[in-house]
Amino acid sequence: MLISKRIQNTKLSAIRKLTPFAKKTKAKGIKVYHMNIGQPDIETPNEYFEALKHYKTKVLGYENSEGIDELRESFSKFLEIHDIHYSPEEILITTGGSEGLLFSFLTICDEGDEIVVPEPYYSNYNTIANSCGVKLVPFETKIENGFHIENRESILKVITNKTRGILYSNPSNPTGVVYSLKELEMIAEVALEENLYIISDEVYRELVYDNIKYKSIFSIDKIHNHLILIDSLSKRYSVCGSRIGMFATKNEKLRNEVLKLCQARLSISSVEQYAATKLLKLPMSYIYDVRDMYQERRDAICNILKDIEGVSYYKPEGAFYLIVSLPVKNSEDFCKWLLTDFNINNETVMFAPADGFYFDNPQGNSQIRISYCISIENIKKAMHILKEGLKVYNSL
Ligand SMILES: Cc1ncc(COP(=O)(O)O)c(C=O)c1O
Repeated sequence: MLISKRIQNTKLSAIRKLTPFAKKTKAKGIKVYHMNIGQPDIETPNEYFEALKHYKTKVLGYENSEGIDELRESFSKFLEIHDIHYSPEEILITTGGSEGLLFSFLTICDEGDEIVVPEPYYSNYNTIANSCGVKLVPFETKIENGFHIENRESILKVITNKTRGILYSNPSNPTGVVYSLKELEMIAEVALEENLYIISDEVYRELVYDNIKYKSIFSIDKIHNHLILIDSLSKRYSVCGSRIGMFATKNEKLRNEVLKLCQARLSISSVEQYAATKLLKLPMSYIYDVRDMYQERRDAICNILKDIEGVSYYKPEGAFYLIVSLPVKNSEDFCKWLLTDFNINNETVMFAPADGFYFDNPQGNSQIRISYCISIENIKKAMHILKEGLKVYNSL
């Protein structure tokens, strides 16, 4: 029996591939600080659990394939706060942002088509693209420019007659870059000129630091028919396990096609959708308090990294990740070694090697992606392990 080439050609998740080593390390009684994965440690708001507790029904049935009306309405109202205007009918509820991305690829691309993306990018974009027979084509951004998009030409250079869309996350996982309106205008112009879709993944929208004014590409009216907006509650409310996300577009034809995929998977979980409506109604102060907490963590990690010899990084402007260049040739080997051969007082740290966030670019070989979803106290301990680990590793 055969396995499809699409899946055989897909790599294991860059974020999780060292997990078997971490498991063995933990089995030896060594504590591992997880800075490899974007799993917030912040408590899920109690309103969510209360809503689950109060959900009453005699039969737990399927819901509408589009998502329950209350949740579509709540999303629509929530987006208005950010000056993003989608009616409930223009919103389809999905199993996390992940399913919205999958449905986008399946609907706008045929096998062999291409989607362009600023590199480095969220590594699961590659997995999703491969599983749809779609080729992800990166355009370069550089650590020394804070991973900002340099110019229109850098995007145009990689566009071919097979390109169907431009995809990015804003703020970005893995770089923490927040694109300026000027950069979004570049993307919009290219999409209009080349007749492409834009997939704007805004799952970290509210996590923007230093009083930077966030603008969604939605603010550029003329691209509305080209635009797919992906959103999710996972990170914003620390409910990664609830799997509630959305796909929105003003393009009715496209939406009707995506609906076929929604109908094929019948419905997403019912109880979780009801509870999610409560989260979207929380005051914005909840989200901004969470943002401030992440900003403090970002400041803490950058303050330590700046004093580690041979390390370079760009201070992230949003989300809760950063790409760090290390004085090592092979960051995957170093990350593995930290788990298998190094600890301080029975504690070590796990990072994601950055090569999985690049298509095929040697830049990633000496970089890691750090997720700072842990407390400042633990960040300090983990960064100490990194600093001492680099010294020992480079003297072997
Ligand atoms: C950039 C980006 N997009 C989408 C997702 C998907 O998240 P979920 O499916 O939990 O909404 C993630 C998760 O880490 C992400 O980092």
